[in-house]
Amino acid sequence: MPLVTTTEMFKKAYEGGYAIGAFNVNNMEIIQGITEAAQELNAPLILQVSAGARKYANHTYLTKLVEAAVIETGLPIALHLDHGADFDICKSCIDGGFTSVMIDGSKYDFYDNIELTKKVVEYAHANGVVVEGELGKLAGIEDDVNVSAEDSAYTNPAEVEEFVTKTGVDSLAIAIGTSHGAYKFKPGQDPKIRIDILEEVEKRLPGFPIVLHGASSVPQEFVKLINQYGGNMPNAIGIPESELRKAAEKAVCKINIDSDLRLAMTASIRQHFTEHPDHFDPRQYLSPARDAIKAMVAHKIKDVLGCDGKA
Ligand code: G3H
Ligand code: 13P
Ligand code: ZN
Repeated sequence: MPLVTTTEMFKKAYEGGYAIGAFNVNNMEIIQGITEAAQELNAPLILQVSAGARKYANHTYLTKLVEAAVIETGLPIALHLDHGADFDICKSCIDGGFTSVMIDGSKYDFYDNIELTKKVVEYAHANGVVVEGELGKLAGIEDDVNVSAEDSAYTNPAEVEEFVTKTGVDSLAIAIGTSHGAYKFKPGQDPKIRIDILEEVEKRLPGFPIVLHGASSVPQEFVKLINQYGGNMPNAIGIPESELRKAAEKAVCKINIDSDLRLAMTASIRQHFTEHPDHFDPRQYLSPARDAIKAMVAHKIKDVLGCDGKA
């Protein structure tokens, strides 16, 4: 099976009350850890590449590694551009074999976002590629986006309807309480997802797939492990996984997870070097790191996304 788009995946996920995991990939071990978990659980997958990942690992290397994962696993896998900042990067990924792109026009005003997103949709659809847009700003830090908590606003469902109709996007990321990065909320806070906004969107656009960014939950045991083995991460929390599970049962069909993979991999490598200070062969510390990614992804598939057995 070649790389697929997300059309079929999202239709089944919407109807089945589950979500597909969209995991960020930067190198071979991350791709292998994710895809080995998905293969064992027979789960569909979205592997997503940010501008930073393309800069770090190179477009062709990442594309070929993902193609290798398709051959090895036989799973339906979509290759997606995460947070495309402009038309040119979307075009480059569409021309370069991606099956899905995100155009993130959330930094523009409503009508400029519509204009840019529509332009990408026209080019993508003419080439058999699907498009994710974004409406509403999430708090947190990405490569090209740094939004303070004060600036983040929940997405307005009436605007979602107009945006989707005018642009023709295939899915839409909305701001309903999640935020990017490993430093999301302070311990003691009680972060929640605005399920009421999600339900209002669902009422206005039945069957339309919604995307959640910033969906890492920052499991405390990994932050503790990192700090126990010489790290210095502030104590922060994310949205509880039970909240994400509720969203996955509704119109949310794609859930983006990056930071939790970073935490799992870093905790494993820090622990490894503390316990084996004599090791210097990268395979010695990257094998357990790959296993840590695999365990984290298996947990997300079974306990958060609910997409096991759905490939
Ligand atoms: O939301 C952004 C992702 O976590 C990608 O992060 O831009 O550092 O690769 P990155
Ligand atoms: P996290 O930082 O919560 O993992 O979010 C990742 C993301 O939204 C990628 O687009
Ligand atoms: Zn994101």
